[in-house]
Amino acid sequence: MSAGLVQAAYIIAAIFFIFSLAGLSKQESARQGNYYGIVGMAIALIATIFSPEAQGFGWIIVAMAIGGTIGIFYARKVEMTEMPELVAILHSFVGMAAVLVGYNSYIEPPAPISVDLVEQHAEHVIHLVEVFLGVFIGAVTFTGSVVAFGKLRGVISSSPLNLPHKHKMNLAAVVVSTLLMIYFVKADGSMFALIVMTLIAFAFGYHLVASIGGADMPVVVSMLNSYSGWAAAAAGFMLANDLLIVTGALVGSSGAILSYIMCKAMNRSFVSVIAGGFGQEVEISSDVEYGEHTEITAEEVAELLKESKSVIITPGYGMAVAQAQYPVHEITEKLRAKGIDVRFGIHPVAGRLPGHMNVLLAEAKVPYDIVLEMDELNDDFPETDTVLVIGANDTVNPAALEDPNSPIAGMPVLEVWNAKNVIVFKRSMNTGYAGVQNPLFFKDNTSMLFGDAKDSVDAISKAI
Ligand code: TAP
Repeated sequence: MSAGLVQAAYIIAAIFFIFSLAGLSKQESARQGNYYGIVGMAIALIATIFSPEAQGFGWIIVAMAIGGTIGIFYARKVEMTEMPELVAILHSFVGMAAVLVGYNSYIEPPAPISVDLVEQHAEHVIHLVEVFLGVFIGAVTFTGSVVAFGKLRGVISSSPLNLPHKHKMNLAAVVVSTLLMIYFVKADGSMFALIVMTLIAFAFGYHLVASIGGADMPVVVSMLNSYSGWAAAAAGFMLANDLLIVTGALVGSSGAILSYIMCKAMNRSFVSVIAGGFGQEVEISSDVEYGEHTEITAEEVAELLKESKSVIITPGYGMAVAQAQYPVHEITEKLRAKGIDVRFGIHPVAGRLPGHMNVLLAEAKVPYDIVLEMDELNDDFPETDTVLVIGANDTVNPAALEDPNSPIAGMPVLEVWNAKNVIVFKRSMNTGYAGVQNPLFFKDNTSMLFGDAKDSVDAISKAI
């Protein structure tokens, strides 16, 4: 393939990626968005493999076959509840790739483009800066994503690591790395400076994510998504690959926009997130007296639903664990057939992944037009007869608005307690992801339906 043809293919691939992002921004067009992404990536891969610079065709095919097989195996096996971990570990691969590309490009620098000696020197300096920044971003992304993976999987504690002077340590890591970069360029590429910075960046990435509290993980996930994009863009600069730069910038900036949306949903400031280490320092008191909770049976819930005119369902992580979305769709259809108005209220950080609930409901074929965002129906709860809180906890916790000392204080939540009746589906009185008790469970108009969410919804469906 000629160099001109490769560039043309890259432009077409980049357009497909932009269409893909546009498609992914709406549920109705998300599937189409995925297809655009697949086509764009196929064009990009073919153009790169057959480009004039590509060598070792056999090795590329072997690597793709091994990587592709592992990827397909895990993607087919992974449960919807494990998706966030998979995304986190994939981000770490992008980070590691940027580190390896950086070292490779340092050891074997590209041939100069210009014949002019002064310009050649400038090119060399730019290349050194690219290598240094690429390795730095990649190393931070790598360890940060590995820690995020561990926290989401539960192998690393989700409570924040509170080392003394944590902000000063983060600042020192950035300052020392900057000084090392100046030395690296002045010393015409010192291997020592590169290795020391890589170790600092690994530790920095680890510390940055480890010191973030459990409830703030949504922001971390989207932030690492953005970092992985910048790491890919940096690799693109080092490899002089325009498409990798464009793709990395698309992922980096869309991840940054997602982080901003997540920050708003969690009521966090974007600057403090970027600075990192915004853990919760509030003591969680477990001895607060909340009173008694009331229990209800599936048959009683079915009766209550049949008598209701309007119902709102607010799903959360527990619905994903129980895979209850299918029977939830079933009762939705049964109630709608009886002329009852049923809608879904989705909190922006419900579940463990941006859009987690929307994906599950779409999978179960719940119509899009009855799935609304928190802001769209938060004012409607007072006029609602029954709310079904299915496996949600932190996202419906009134303490976020009522208790200024709560670790989730200030986070906007679904104000379900304003409805006439609230039914909470869960297995025990345990806390949610943030580890905070939920006063909703003890309110007079709340009843608890204990058990696996799928079994409970199935039982209600039968009773209806
Ligand atoms: P959570 O607060 O995590 O609560 C989920 C509830 O589901 C738990 O209290 C659990 O109670 C219940 N549950 C678990 N398995 C169940 C099953 N099989 N059947 C019935 N109930 C079950 O959920 P949420 O309201 O969706 O809030 C999400 C939390 O995750 C927030 O704190 C958010 O910050 C965090 N987070 C979100 C993201 C993104 S991007 N969405 C990423 C990382 C972290 P039992 O154990 O008693 O059953």
